[in-house]
Amino acid sequence: MHSGLCLRVLILAALTVPIRAAQPAQETFTLTVPDGPTSTLSGSSVSLLCQVSPLINAEPLEVRWYRSSNFHSPALLYKDHKIQEASVDPRYRGRVSLTGGLERGNVSLTLERVTVEDRGEYVCQVTSEQWYEKASVFLTVNVTGSEPVLSVAKARGGGGQVNVICSSDGWSPQPTLTWRNKEGTEIRNGREVLNTSDPQGLVSVSSWLLCAPSDSDWLACTVSLSEEVKREGRILPHIYTAPTAVPGVSKEAFIVTLVLLILSLVIICALCSVILCKRRGSMWSSFKKSRNRSDQTELGQRPADQTELGQGPAGKCFILISR
Ligand SMILES: *[C@@H]1O[C@H](CO)[C@@H](O)[C@H](O)[C@H]1NC(C)=O
Ligand SMILES: *[C@@H]1O[C@H](CO)[C@@H](O)[C@H](O)[C@H]1NC(C)=O
Ligand SMILES: *[C@@H]1O[C@H](CO)[C@@H](O)[C@H](O)[C@H]1NC(C)=O
Repeated sequence: MHSGLCLRVLILAALTVPIRAAQPAQETFTLTVPDGPTSTLSGSSVSLLCQVSPLINAEPLEVRWYRSSNFHSPALLYKDHKIQEASVDPRYRGRVSLTGGLERGNVSLTLERVTVEDRGEYVCQVTSEQWYEKASVFLTVNVTGSEPVLSVAKARGGGGQVNVICSSDGWSPQPTLTWRNKEGTEIRNGREVLNTSDPQGLVSVSSWLLCAPSDSDWLACTVSLSEEVKREGRILPHIYTAPTAVPGVSKEAFIVTLVLLILSLVIICALCSVILCKRRGSMWSSFKKSRNRSDQTELGQRPADQTELGQGPAGKCFILISR
C-alpha cells in the first residue's frame, strides 16, 4: 500500500519535473554585454554591444535601448518587427540603428555622430512574450582638446631660471600632461598640474616647469588620452626681451603720449574760451547796455549771466558763443 503510493509519486515526479524544467529553458535567455565601459571619440560612430544567448532569432522580440532614467523615451525601440519612431528620444533620431543581425541574436546599438552629451549608461532590454532581460553598457566619449599653448616667463626669484607654462583645454576625460626634453626624456621634477572642468564636463589642464634658459634645447609638452590621441607643443625656454619688450613699451608710450596731448589741448582750449567768453561777455553787455536801454527784462538778466560766465564751466561759454 505504502510502496505503491511512493511509486506513483515517483512516476508523477519523473513525468512532471522534466516538462517543467524544459518549458522555461526554451523561453528564457540572457544578455551578454561588455564588462567595462565602451569608449569612442566625439564625432565618430560606436556600437554598444549586446548579444542574446543562447543564439536565438531576436526578430520577433522587443528590443529597447534607453538611458537609465528614460525608459519611456528610449534611444531606440524595435517592436512588431520594425523600428518604432514615435516615442523615441528626438536627440537620437536618425543616429541609431540595429546593424548586428537580429536573426543571430545580435541586438547591438549603433550610434552615429557621437557627442559629449551621449556619454552615460545605456540599458539594453530584450522582451519576449514570456521573458525579459536587461543589461547596461556605459559609453564614454573622448574629446580631443586644443593644441597646447606654451609660454616662457621670468621665474620670480628664480636665480636665472625661467618658468615654462603649458596649457590646453576642452578634453574629456582627464588627459595626462607630460614634459619632455629634446632627447625625449620625460621631465618629472618641479611641475604641478592644475585641472579645471567646464559646465560641459570638458577638462582643462595646465602645468609649469622651472628650467635653465636655453636657445637650442627645446621642451615639449604633450597632452594625451591614449597613444593615438595626443597633442604636442614645443618651445625654447628663452625670454626674448628685445623683440617683445620694445614694441610693447613703445605702443603703450605712444598711447599715453597721445592721451596726454589730447588732454592738454582740451585744457588749453577750455582756458582760452573762458578768457574769450569773459571778454566778449563784458563787451556784449556794455554794448547792449549802451544800445538798448528800453528792454528792461533783458537788461535785468544780463548781469546775472555775466557773473555765471566768469565762474562757471567752459561748457556754458560755448553755448553763449554760439548764440
Ligand atoms: C579614450 O580615452 C581613454 C583614456 O582616457 C583611452 O583608454 C581610450 O582608449 C580612449 N578611447 C578612444 C576611442 O580613443
Ligand atoms: C554585433 O553587431 C555589432 C555591430 O554591428 C558588431 O560590432 C559585433 O561584432 C556583433 N557581435 C557579434 C557577436 O557578432
Ligand atoms: C589633475 O590631473 C592629475 C593627473 O594629470 C590627477 O592626478 C589629479 O587628480 C587631477 N586633479 C583634479 C582636481 O582633477
